[in-house]
Amino acid sequence: MAGRIPQQFIDDLVARTDIVELIENYLPLRKAGKEFQALCPFHGEKTPSFTVSREKQFYHCFGCGVHGTAIGFLMAYRNLEFLEAVEELADLAGVQIPRDVSSKNAVNSKQTFEMLGRAEAFYKRQLRTATSKDKAINYLKNRGISGETAKIFGIGYAPEGWRNLIDDLAKNGETEESLEKGGLVIKKQSSGYYDRFRDRIIFPIHDKRGRVLGFGGRVLDQSEPKYLNSPETEVFHKGTELYGLKQAISSGQLESLIVVEGYMDVISLYQFGIKNSVATLGTAVTSAHIDKLFRHSPKIIFCFDGDKAGQRAAWKGLELSLPKIQGDRQVEFCFLPDGHDPDSAVRKFGSDRFFAASQVYGLIDYLIDSLKQNLDLSSGEGRANLLRTIKPFMAKISDTALKAVAARAISDITKFDENIVRQEIGLIATANQQKRVNTIKSYTSRSLQEQAIGLMLAWPSLASHVSEAEIVFIRDNLPDCDILFEVWKKCASENLTTGSLIERFRGVPTEQTLLQIAAVNNHLAEEQASIELKDVFKKLESKGVEQQILSIKNLPLNDLTQEQKQLLRGYKK
Ligand code: GTP
Ligand code: MN
Repeated sequence: MAGRIPQQFIDDLVARTDIVELIENYLPLRKAGKEFQALCPFHGEKTPSFTVSREKQFYHCFGCGVHGTAIGFLMAYRNLEFLEAVEELADLAGVQIPRDVSSKNAVNSKQTFEMLGRAEAFYKRQLRTATSKDKAINYLKNRGISGETAKIFGIGYAPEGWRNLIDDLAKNGETEESLEKGGLVIKKQSSGYYDRFRDRIIFPIHDKRGRVLGFGGRVLDQSEPKYLNSPETEVFHKGTELYGLKQAISSGQLESLIVVEGYMDVISLYQFGIKNSVATLGTAVTSAHIDKLFRHSPKIIFCFDGDKAGQRAAWKGLELSLPKIQGDRQVEFCFLPDGHDPDSAVRKFGSDRFFAASQVYGLIDYLIDSLKQNLDLSSGEGRANLLRTIKPFMAKISDTALKAVAARAISDITKFDENIVRQEIGLIATANQQKRVNTIKSYTSRSLQEQAIGLMLAWPSLASHVSEAEIVFIRDNLPDCDILFEVWKKCASENLTTGSLIERFRGVPTEQTLLQIAAVNNHLAEEQASIELKDVFKKLESKGVEQQILSIKNLPLNDLTQEQKQLLRGYKK
């Protein structure tokens, strides 16, 4: 990260961006009343229900329920990460992003990236030098890696010896301490440092922009440990990075992304024409990995050995993926033939028969197949048990289409009537009806606090009708008013649109709740919203008074202040 972007800059950028102009670059918008409409790019439809509001700086689709701000649109439509979306908006506005260079981290990261880049260059040079040439290049040749592939992945060699890298980078003025920060050297117990990677084939790990984050190193013989990876550093986070993502993106083959276990798997697959694979870095797949994968492709294929470890890894992938399915997203599991890893399988079967030679399951099929292993489906109890064990997994799925597919599959295998299954897994009505029911229910069953938040989100200027004394009274006497107070404070102190207001809450836990609420109130006219807001606040206030009375009602009269006594008398009257 090249320094924090000051929050004020992001606020200003969002405020000066017009969401209509932005989205018009991607979709043909048609004016419809005060708003603009288009066919929704996030689901297939024939009549437009995707609506963009200039006034609110917010978009919403009444068909599939997606919604968000200008930044949110770029993230969803162009698969950008937050910072990339900000960079894009800054470019469009023709402004430079100021970096908060007072933050020490920022300066350090830049230097670390430069140093890691020099280390990569050093290891690559070493692969070509006379002393290591035969040994290292022979190893790569024996494993069937072409010179071209080695180049694409920047493969290098760390020579034998304790200070080769330290001495080379010292010429650029790099100190041993800074090398340690980059994970390149290890501190001795006595004193001094030595090179972490010695006599190993080096696989540089890049981020998708091509910056070096760290390295993996493999021995050339049978010694242990087989692989050594850079430790976590300020720039290298194994829980979010994926080996090979840069190369997969550059290949343009992104109809799917295949997740494998090893460096060599990614490299061999690439060489055989399957250029869209990535590897986790010696860790299990994480939720952050899956988010990242879905930003680049609608389909993830987990490809593991058929052994116990492979099954465990796949199961983790399944559990983390269930909540993330929506729209055209898809997850598959590919189990390789016995004794093979992707590297050996693609060499034996070629890219054409790679999947055909394996067992490939869809998400629901794999789930059912795994659960039924321990059950006897020939008995009624066994089948009832399957339905019971699958319920918690169904609860993780929010996508109604996927749930419907599951209901059909579960009904097929358990022989239970499909309607019973649907009921059991919380899917009574058809998907569309369900969505409407949810929207209406969430509107009417909302607490007063949530209703007030919703109205202010839709019309931030209305917050000025509520005085500070009023909101403070409510906050001090009623539970669950923290978000309400936060939203009011932001609305009352500035002139904000719905979009800018929501951007202020990006990354905080309430962001999703706010987005949902904002979408529901999207269509209320200002006048009506104003009336409702007054009404909601009146109710909140009388609830506050009620609460006050409840809290003093049972106290001895002598303990009460004059004000409290008055309050009680007023109540009894
Ligand atoms: P090759 O033997 O070179 O084909 O490697 P592989 O990718 O088939 O190895 P394996 O399936 O054993 O390991 C898969 C991944 O796990 C590797 O790419 C490493 O990221 C990681 N890994 C394997 N062995 C070790 C080890 O000894 N230490 C650490 N830290 N990671 C390892
Ligand atoms: Mn292997």
